[in-house]
Amino acid sequence: MTHLLSIEQLSAKEIEKIITLAGELKKNRYATPQVLADQNWALIFTKASTRTRVSFEVGIRELGGSVMFMSGADMQLGRGEPVKDTARVMGRMVDGAVIRTYAQKDVDEFAKYSGIPTINALTDEEHPCQILADLLTIKQRLGGWKGKRVCFLGDGDCNVARAWIWAAAKLGFELVIAAPKAFQPAAAFLKKVKTKHVRVEENPLKAAAGCDVLYTDVWVSMGKEEESAERIKILGGYQIDDALVAAAKKKAIVMHCLPAYRGKEITAEVMEDHAGVIFEQAENRLHAQKAILVRLVS
Ligand code: CP
Ligand code: NVA
Repeated sequence: MTHLLSIEQLSAKEIEKIITLAGELKKNRYATPQVLADQNWALIFTKASTRTRVSFEVGIRELGGSVMFMSGADMQLGRGEPVKDTARVMGRMVDGAVIRTYAQKDVDEFAKYSGIPTINALTDEEHPCQILADLLTIKQRLGGWKGKRVCFLGDGDCNVARAWIWAAAKLGFELVIAAPKAFQPAAAFLKKVKTKHVRVEENPLKAAAGCDVLYTDVWVSMGKEEESAERIKILGGYQIDDALVAAAKKKAIVMHCLPAYRGKEITAEVMEDHAGVIFEQAENRLHAQKAILVRLVS
């Protein structure tokens, strides 16, 4: 693996290798191989972050590397320096880059011009690190994803939903996207993925029925703030509440990539009842990303 740009570009075999390694690294947290010794990594973020930033900073250090955080807005990038020039400068000085930004093409271009391992830490199109950590959580909580049914509720066309769709297509588990018409995955995107493992359902109760995992994300993704009021109105019926949890399998787990907005995509009660899984999911970002880093430099 040269870069981690999307789930789309990963094979099922690579995903499985990452998840297995993540499990091992989690078990032996403080006996981590020092594969990044003498390396300097840069985090370039033009969007806010808590989990992704902390987990990468800690993960790179635990692997023996040094890490610098750069806010995109404070770089010349923020004043219009082209991505390909930034990439060629950074590539001569640092050993790897982790990028959170808007356009997927910017991360792809950075990878192409920098010549160093590049990781997508969230774009408008995908959030691959999140889904890899979530798969680790599902494996540890449910024993694996084979034969399982995951229900994603909310903005079915957002970065997290899209990465889930690719994951279902690659790994062959069942994914139900519960979303109102305006927030269903774009037809062109579904055509590109071309999978029988993903079903789109408008009725949230029908979608949740018989599921092993109920999963949600914020209704207002970063960059969509101007649409807040409209999104909250249209997505109102897709909140994970007690009724939806009751519709899922008895032992279903509730997952949230966080940050959570109680009273919007999830009720405060469901959030607290399922905090054990949800915060383990957050912790698993660290273990999954350490596995990604190991795979990139080995
Ligand atoms: N889930 C996630 O990526 O969280 P942050 O935005 O805090 O990094
Ligand atoms: N879809 C959300 C994910 C946050 C981790 C966003 O892009 O803001």
